[in-house]
Amino acid sequence: MNIEIIKTQTPKQKPDQKNLGFGDYFTDHMFTMRYTKGQGWHSPKIEPYAPIQMDPAAMVLHYAQEIFEGLKAYRSPEGKILLFRPDRNFARLNVSAKRLCIPQIDEEFAIKALEELVKIDADWIPTEPGTSLYIRPFIIAMDAHLGVRAANELLFTIILSPVGAYYKEGFNPVKIYIETEYVRAVKGGTGFTKCGGNYAASLAGQEKAHELNYSQVLWLDGREHKYVEEVGAMNVFFKINGTVVTPSLEGSILSGVTRMSVIEMLKSKGYNVEERLLPIDELIAAAEAGTLEEAWGTGTAAVISPIGELFCDGKVYKLNDGKIGETSQMLYDELTGIQWGKLPDTFGWTRVIG
Ligand code: COI
Repeated sequence: MNIEIIKTQTPKQKPDQKNLGFGDYFTDHMFTMRYTKGQGWHSPKIEPYAPIQMDPAAMVLHYAQEIFEGLKAYRSPEGKILLFRPDRNFARLNVSAKRLCIPQIDEEFAIKALEELVKIDADWIPTEPGTSLYIRPFIIAMDAHLGVRAANELLFTIILSPVGAYYKEGFNPVKIYIETEYVRAVKGGTGFTKCGGNYAASLAGQEKAHELNYSQVLWLDGREHKYVEEVGAMNVFFKINGTVVTPSLEGSILSGVTRMSVIEMLKSKGYNVEERLLPIDELIAAAEAGTLEEAWGTGTAAVISPIGELFCDGKVYKLNDGKIGETSQMLYDELTGIQWGKLPDTFGWTRVIG
């Protein structure tokens, strides 16, 4: 398929790179591609960034048949454009698609389209320390129809957003609220996918956390409220007595690309890493006994985010004196070093856009 390219006649002013925040600015162009039942995916286009026209009855607005991804492009010190493991993101998009009854996309074609888009908006890749170009591919159901069924018409879009840190704390430790009432996902549901509904379900817990001045919610499993799962916008790791423990993928947790990279990196450095069920009682007992040495979250948006405090059932647990732990620091330095092209990529994760 050929990608039609329509360039904007009215380029936007670029934002101040020192105050990007997360997800507030969008580049000049976007990629779109349509799906029609019987015809498959068609009409790929790179076109000026603009609002999407849809019928008020478009099924995505009513029944949330929607999936998305998040990845980043970086500018290396030599001026090259680097993508971090895009194959993993588009493979996961297809995993989400399957669960949400959305037709599969051609992953290699999607990466090629993304590369074209990023090249066209290359001037938008920020270069200030800690910044990158966040990439948001998403697919939505477009049929104007109010019966509940899988869509026959869909729209695949990729938009780009120059970003700084996800949390206002930057790389400083965040405070995490452990939610013991609401749940985010259950096994058999959509927790392992990246679909908007998972995030909608997390908002009430997040509001509660924000009221108490906590940045994010740590979710427990949906059945027993007993095992640690994830933090919604990131996967989570704990260093307990020298061993790194992260919840295993049991069907309700997102298989994070940063998560899998961190596990690989830690193992390559000789750390003992356990992917397993982690009971909240074990975590709290470790915090009380002083053996919970460090905790951090991992995600494309959040990168490595040290956790300085946990709140559970009315009690506050300070971790590592609220300071950045040495493992979190090492992971941040090594991972961002590879992502920004400042350190050699011995893992083969980087894709250079040429
Ligand atoms: C990401 O890390 O890319 C995410 O999608 C998390 C969040 C911004 C929803």
